[in-house]
Amino acid sequence: MAERARVAVLISGRGSNMAALIYAARAADCPFEVALVTGDRPDAPGLALAEAEGIEVERIAYDKSTFFQTLESLLSDKTIEIIALAGFMRLIPPAFIARWAGRIVNIHPSLLPRHKGLRTHEAVLAAGERVTGASVHLVSEEVDSGELLGQVEVAVLPGDTAETLAERVLIAEHQLYPRVLAQFVGRERDPAWIEARVGALALALPETSFKTSHGAPAWRVGSESSGKLFAILFNRHHGEDSVGVLVKASGQDEMAQLIDAEPEIYFRPAYYGPSDWIGIRLDRSNVDWDHVAEWLARSWRACAPPRLTKLLRAAEEF
Ligand code: GAR
Repeated sequence: MAERARVAVLISGRGSNMAALIYAARAADCPFEVALVTGDRPDAPGLALAEAEGIEVERIAYDKSTFFQTLESLLSDKTIEIIALAGFMRLIPPAFIARWAGRIVNIHPSLLPRHKGLRTHEAVLAAGERVTGASVHLVSEEVDSGELLGQVEVAVLPGDTAETLAERVLIAEHQLYPRVLAQFVGRERDPAWIEARVGALALALPETSFKTSHGAPAWRVGSESSGKLFAILFNRHHGEDSVGVLVKASGQDEMAQLIDAEPEIYFRPAYYGPSDWIGIRLDRSNVDWDHVAEWLARSWRACAPPRLTKLLRAAEEF
């Protein structure tokens, strides 16, 4: 199995959802690990619990002007890939969200898009809802509005108060969050998902088509008879552990340099390596897909017939 995704859990209080994530991650087949717990309140009870469970904890005293900067460097030191908010009650600045786009998840105690914001259970009761629930979603700039990743329904009982309802919704949250986070992390490591994503980028380049190369999904530029491969999906071939895409480097020197500088991103694929194919690992949660698109375009340029590259140069100059 590929390495587990390194998740940082951010809390402001009790941390029962955090605990649910920690205990779920103890299963041998869980695709994520809780690599760090932190938050905006050094005295949050959840931090002491995480510590007792042997999880790395960092206490950051909240300061409006420095908190998110301190957090950012901490996350980078600990090579965190995904942030899971679990009752983290601060608004996150847009620039931070943009840098972590698609990599911050949150749990909210309602069936979003219904009842965003605070005092959710009071709002559910005041609206006379028969059913409420919990939602896990990606964090976007607008509060409680990012892509929904999963939901669970919870019945509202006659006589429920905000407290009794919160208690039952919390049980549902504890089931939902680990399951959805595992699915979310798993989807980014799933070879079929990776292939679809690479394929969409490869086929967006001019005169490209799909073909298989020794059984591996691959993309070619040019015609069926004279076209050349410029990208090959690599899925743990020849006993290697990586899932990635192979693209054309300029030569052995460049390959050696890149692999030496960033071994967590680049690898030398068995069999293809000697003909200047370099591997870019894609079974990670922090893949920079713009960077992958740039490599595909570069590889396309190296393989495309002159008539196409001329066209492209003309378009670029235009
Ligand atoms: C949970 O119910 C969570 O859904 C909610 O805070 C509680 C935290 O409890 N989050 C929000 O309302 C976010 N807007 P916990 O600290 O025991 O996990």
